[in-house]
Amino acid sequence: MSRHTHSSGNPIVDRRGAYAEALSSEHAYAEAAEVMAQALELAPDWAAGWNSLGRHYEGSGSIDRAIAAWQRSAELDPAGRYGAALKLAAHGVGGARGMSAYAETLFDDYAGRFEMSLVDRLGYRVPEALADMIVATGRPAGARPVDLGCGTGLMGVRLRPLVDRLEGVDLSQAMLAEARRKGIYDRLTRADLFDFLGGVQGVDLAAAADVLNYTGPLPPVLAAVRPVLSPGGRFAFSLETHGGPEPEVLRTSLRFAHHTDAALGACREAGYAVLATRAATLRYDRGEPVAGLLVVLAGT
Ligand SMILES: C[S@@+](CC[C@H](N)C(=O)[O-])C[C@H]1O[C@@H](n2cnc3c(N)ncnc32)[C@H](O)[C@@H]1O
Repeated sequence: MSRHTHSSGNPIVDRRGAYAEALSSEHAYAEAAEVMAQALELAPDWAAGWNSLGRHYEGSGSIDRAIAAWQRSAELDPAGRYGAALKLAAHGVGGARGMSAYAETLFDDYAGRFEMSLVDRLGYRVPEALADMIVATGRPAGARPVDLGCGTGLMGVRLRPLVDRLEGVDLSQAMLAEARRKGIYDRLTRADLFDFLGGVQGVDLAAAADVLNYTGPLPPVLAAVRPVLSPGGRFAFSLETHGGPEPEVLRTSLRFAHHTDAALGACREAGYAVLATRAATLRYDRGEPVAGLLVVLAGT
């Protein structure tokens, strides 16, 4: 996913930034960093550029320089749209903040090539697997299924045959525009899922496919979903998983990964019944399988 599309305002600098990005995509990270550092001499307040420079240094193994670049980017972009504060947190510098602003920018950039990239190149199969689990575990008849973080509608396509009506919510306007084109949602809302959940009730099925990697610790999500579920309502979601001791870690990919036992413990502690779980490869990242967990819960 490229972050260089956010202009510096100077076409010459932008061209150099694009060249650095091309070098980086060929794994020539040190050369990319050199080109980008020179470009930034002409545009020292370019937040997206400093963020990219951090990535090029990270790729080249110069973590100290990467951290300095992300610190500069974070100063220039206090909302965190480029994710520099998250990169710092993933490298152990400061706390994770600005996840929503970062996810919105990321997916607004990514929307046009999301499905080709994720499904065709990265082997994303979460929606069909999650839909199979939803069918296998049954659910109460209800009127309000909600696709949380619906993106372009890949999960919605799988949910649509199972429900009479369908709602989707997402942070990203561009992802929602792609979803709208599919014509499968009765209602689409642009909102942070936490804000959205604060205003709904009687949800019989909430789905979050490949979304909770972008929201951080699990307990706040579980607490936000449970009160909106109708009795016995289902919450189906995927998580990226890791094998370390922490309940969750923020990876340098800027996705959170969760520990399976801690996640399922949190589900029970939050008052859900765990109906089904399945360990699965969620997709591939640089040719490597990304391990994950699919979960269907019932509100009790
Ligand atoms: C990897 S995509 C998955 C989209 C879809 N669920 C699917 O399976 O294809 C993640 C989506 O979650 C959305 N998202 C991330 N954090 C969010 C939040 N806090 N509230 C609402 N949407 C969020 C992003 O904008 C993005 O469209």
